[in-house]
Amino acid sequence: MHKRLILQLVVSTMTVAGLLLASSIRGPVLAESAHPAVDAKKLIEEAKTAGLAPLPAVQAPADATAEARITLGRRLFYENRVSQDGNVSCGHCHQADLAASDGLPKAIGVFGKVNPRNAPSIFNAGLQFKQHWRGDRESLEDQAEKSLTGAASFGNPDFAAVKAKLVEIPGYKEAFAKGFPGDPDPISSKNWGLAVAAFERTLLTPSRYDAFLAGDAKALSPAEQAGLHKFIEVGCASCHDGPGLGGGSFQKFGVVEDYWKETGAVAPDKGRADVTKNDADLYVFKVAQLRNVAKTAPYFHDGSVAELPRAVRIMGKVQLGKDLSDKDVSEIVAFLGSLTGPVPANYLPLTPFPDAPAAK
Ligand code: HEC
Ligand code: HEC
Repeated sequence: MHKRLILQLVVSTMTVAGLLLASSIRGPVLAESAHPAVDAKKLIEEAKTAGLAPLPAVQAPADATAEARITLGRRLFYENRVSQDGNVSCGHCHQADLAASDGLPKAIGVFGKVNPRNAPSIFNAGLQFKQHWRGDRESLEDQAEKSLTGAASFGNPDFAAVKAKLVEIPGYKEAFAKGFPGDPDPISSKNWGLAVAAFERTLLTPSRYDAFLAGDAKALSPAEQAGLHKFIEVGCASCHDGPGLGGGSFQKFGVVEDYWKETGAVAPDKGRADVTKNDADLYVFKVAQLRNVAKTAPYFHDGSVAELPRAVRIMGKVQLGKDLSDKDVSEIVAFLGSLTGPVPANYLPLTPFPDAPAAK
């Protein structure tokens, strides 16, 4: 009796070993079992409770004027001729194949001037409560207008210099008039901002993650689901929440430990303190959005970290005081990969208006 039980145990252990062996040959079964099955329904609830949310749908243009404005904004977005050296447009630093970022630690504007900070993705940017790493731009409109005179972006002295170029290019007078009917002076800085921002608001990038939140349990792989669970469990979502997984608040970068000790940044950026002149804002930045983050390396406001796993590990350490395990990091990175959505179809340049015919 006793012996039989032991024998049975041995046999069943062997069976388990055999099954394991078989499943390791089949591969995926073992890979999946490395991520304990998470109940997808529970996980969706958990995500919602943590303040995570799907992207809203893109609003169709309300009328022909709204449509003309978006088309104008799209054209202006790719217009090099308004920059001081004729080579820089918004699209220069916000490239389609890099989810509207530029792959550089710090962006390079007119005459090769280096911008003080990294170019973030502009997809889904309209959902943010402020623009720029330090939140020093109130809205997409404000951001687009001020870009034109930025020393390390377009380099223009004022909007008059931009307007002088726009009126020379056949097509813009009509295009601005169509986008702003009834405006006696349609080619204005304000309307530049309105048109470019109207275009940017169409640039939402829903992904498999949105399908998952909408109830499609199979939209995320087991590893990605485990990563989403980890992301919430360790506390990432306490800052990276909302539809953009960020973009909704300011937080100190380096809650637990100075960020530059981990990122290796040589001349630490003081963040919002330089904007508000308030010491309480020292090293405070906008919580970065994480949509398409797998495509927007290098990371952080100074582009100091080249790889996503390292950026995740640093976040765990300096924001939460946690040493994430390799498994935690790889699951979170797998989850972050599910936030990559297709490039919006209209994020492509239109055929530019031709140059003005040379004076005879
Ligand atoms: C020379 C490269 C360059 C050009 C040209 C450029 N940008 Fe940017 N963009 C950046 C950088 C760098 C930042 C971050 C600046 C900061 O936070 O200080 C940024 C930030 C932004 C943001 C804020 C995103 C966020 O998450 O906070 C938006 C929106 C944006 N740019 C749109 C535009 C538009 C529209 C244009 C054209 C009018 C433009 N950019 C031209 C480099 C550029
Ligand atoms: C206390 C708030 C807070 C917490 C918690 C937090 N973050 Fe962040 N996160 C930020 C801020 C602020 C930034 C912007 C840092 C900067 O200015 O470079 C950021 C940036 C990032 C970036 C870089 C994005 C980019 O485009 O360069 C990644 C990736 C990231 N966080 C992931 C995570 C992950 C994963 C966790 C959990 C392990 C986490 N964060 C926890 C506030 C937080």
